[in-house]
Amino acid sequence: MSHAHTFFTLFLLFLAFSTTRALYGHAVVRCLFSSHDGHDAVYLEQYYFNKLLMGQYNSTLGKMVGYTNSTKKIADGLNRNEQFMDLQTWKTKRCKREVPLVYSGLLNPVEPYIRLRSEKAASSKHPGMLICSAYDFYPKQIRVTWLRDGKETTSDVTSTDELPNGNWLYQIHSYLEYTPTSGEKITCMVEHASFQKPMLYDWEPVSNPGMNKIAVGSAGLLLGLVFLVVAVINYKKKSPARMSVPTTEVLYPEHTL
Ligand SMILES: *[C@@H]1O[C@H](CO)[C@@H](O)[C@H](O)[C@H]1NC(C)=O
Ligand SMILES: *[C@@H]1O[C@H](CO)[C@@H](O)[C@H](O)[C@H]1NC(C)=O
Repeated sequence: MSHAHTFFTLFLLFLAFSTTRALYGHAVVRCLFSSHDGHDAVYLEQYYFNKLLMGQYNSTLGKMVGYTNSTKKIADGLNRNEQFMDLQTWKTKRCKREVPLVYSGLLNPVEPYIRLRSEKAASSKHPGMLICSAYDFYPKQIRVTWLRDGKETTSDVTSTDELPNGNWLYQIHSYLEYTPTSGEKITCMVEHASFQKPMLYDWEPVSNPGMNKIAVGSAGLLLGLVFLVVAVINYKKKSPARMSVPTTEVLYPEHTL
């Protein structure tokens, strides 16, 4: 089982009882898992007496273990008891098969909304800052990485923690300090349980192509109008000679093309 992941701990049962002598015993039953399909699930039953752990059943070991002389004997007896062992096997199967189903059914992953932007305009002297933000996702576990020409980079990268919104959803912001080199492709990669595969978001430097399409479209329309006006004037004058056609500078005032 991967301890790198945060365990999602489900409390199935909590038993408590006390006697008139103020002795206190309780048992904790847990199904611990971090994967959605439950392949790594561990079923755990722990018995405490006066808050001391007396014995436990751990499905990885597949047997009861006692921690005191008397519970060691009890554990040995239980481990030889076929009915008890069958029951533990059945409970372990439920932990592996059903609990993760319940978990994924109750708490469906929520896909993040990704925003990629730059903070300062990058010039050749001063490094720019790219920010890749993921908003409103669940569960908390997420991986935001940067690729330069398809290769993961870890230098010049900083990130916030996963910040809780307070509504079960989280956000995270990852920063890449970079000096742009021409032709280099910078990508923010986001991996999350809500995605089938890692999602790639390419940084579009300088201007964005959507604006260029609008500029080309507008320029085309303007050019058509100019020709129409010229044609109409020439037709009215009936002299096809001298009209000066506006230069293309008029059409592309910001050199966007
Ligand atoms: C269960 O047993 C395995 C194998 O010995 C061990 O790695 C794991 O930590 C145990 N789990 C708990 C919660 O004690
Ligand atoms: C537990 O058993 C061991 C060996 O059988 C013995 O040496 C020890 O004294 C016992 N402890 C208690 C608290 O009875």
